[in-house]
Amino acid sequence: MMLFLDTAETDVIAERASTGLVDGVTTNPSLAAKAGGDFFEGLKAICETIDGPISAEVIATDAHNMIAEGKKLRAIHDNIVVKLPLTFEGLKACRALTDDGHPTNVTLCFSVAQALMAAKAGATFVSPFIGRLDDQGEDGLGLIEDIRMLYDEHGFATYILAASIRSMEHVEGSALAGADACTIPPKIFDAMIQHDLTDNGLDAFLKDWANAGKGAL
Ligand code: G3P
Repeated sequence: MMLFLDTAETDVIAERASTGLVDGVTTNPSLAAKAGGDFFEGLKAICETIDGPISAEVIATDAHNMIAEGKKLRAIHDNIVVKLPLTFEGLKACRALTDDGHPTNVTLCFSVAQALMAAKAGATFVSPFIGRLDDQGEDGLGLIEDIRMLYDEHGFATYILAASIRSMEHVEGSALAGADACTIPPKIFDAMIQHDLTDNGLDAFLKDWANAGKGAL
């Protein structure tokens, strides 16, 4: 399963990249605005830090300009994945960019029907936003399960990229439901490694070692 970081902050990405556990990065206009600085330079820096899919989203809302922006983004680095909204125009742009050999991530997916359309458009990734569904009382993880079933049933190659992750349980649930990838806010990435019993157990091991008068190996 691919684990991506859901941020455009290069220092935050670099710190987590040092673990070797980060397979890629997703950004969106809100995250890029939060990170500040030059958008293109920021993406270049991310591509130099992580050797994997880096999603960068178009701003245009019509297919013609989405395609032009997508090609501009792709010129930054070969690992850039063109992120397109799941709209009529976004899917048109997805089909054209896919046919032209560009990887795509169709984002803002909230239903099985939308996921079917994204797969038909040849999307490399589809991003169901599970947190935002939960926020309005729906079942985000249920959507991941349903899309998995749909894609397996019909042999679609589109990767399911669980997004809008609010908790560690969302990552666990996405993994168990068969998502191919999950994009994780940095705080949750860190939380996935930490456990109080691990910390307490390690403290006890090291105390016992020191109490026995032993030093570094
Ligand atoms: O990758 C999309 C994701 O960033 C959206 O998350 O927390 O704004 O719903 P959120």
